[in-house]
Amino acid sequence: MTRVLCYSWSERTARVAAAVAAELAVEMDRIVAPRVRAGGLWGMLVWGRAARAGADTPVEVPPVDWPRFGALVLAAPVWAGRVAVPMASFLRAHPALPPRLGLVMTGADPRRPAGAFADFARLAGREPLATLYVARARVERGDFAPDIAEFCAALAAGP
Ligand SMILES: Cc1cc2nc3c(=O)[nH]c(=O)nc-3n(C[C@H](O)[C@H](O)[C@H](O)COP(=O)(O)O)c2cc1C
Repeated sequence: MTRVLCYSWSERTARVAAAVAAELAVEMDRIVAPRVRAGGLWGMLVWGRAARAGADTPVEVPPVDWPRFGALVLAAPVWAGRVAVPMASFLRAHPALPPRLGLVMTGADPRRPAGAFADFARLAGREPLATLYVARARVERGDFAPDIAEFCAALAAGP
C-alpha cells in the first residue's frame, strides 16, 4: 500500500497529488504550515528567500506511521529552485520514511527542475523510484492524466 503526503500553498500541487492518490486508490495527507500564508508578491519574495537560505518553518503533519506503507509519494511545489520550505522542514526533522519513495513537484517553469528534484531526494535521504513534474500551466489546463499513469506505473515497477 502507498500513501501520499503533500504540501501545497495555492492548491496546484494538491491537485496533482490528489490525482496520484486517486489513481492508486490511496489516501493523501497534507502538511500544514501555519506561519506560511498565501500572500502575493511579498510572500513569494520572503518565502523564496527562505527556501534559498534553507530556512525552516513549523509544520503540522498528521501522526501517520509512514514506514508502515510500502511506498510514500511526497509532493511539493518548487520554491526558488528548491523544495518548498514546509516540505523541506518536514524532511529536515528526519522522519522515518519507507525505502520506496516517489517525488512530485509543480512549478511555474515549463522545464523540469533537475536541481529541485536533487534537493528533494537529498532531503528525503534516498533516490526516488519515480518522479513527476507538472508545470503550472498544465496543472491549470488539467491535461496531466498520462503523466500520472506513467508515474504510478514507475512507482509500482520499482525494486
Ligand atoms: C515562494 C515561491 C517561490 C517560487 N519559486 C519558483 C521557482 O523557483 N521555479 C518555478 O518554476 N516556480 C516557482 N514558484 C511557482 C510555484 O512553484 C508554482 O506556482 C506551483 O505550481 C505552486 O504550487 P502550489 O499551488 O501547490 O503552491 C514559486 C512560488 C512561490 C510561492
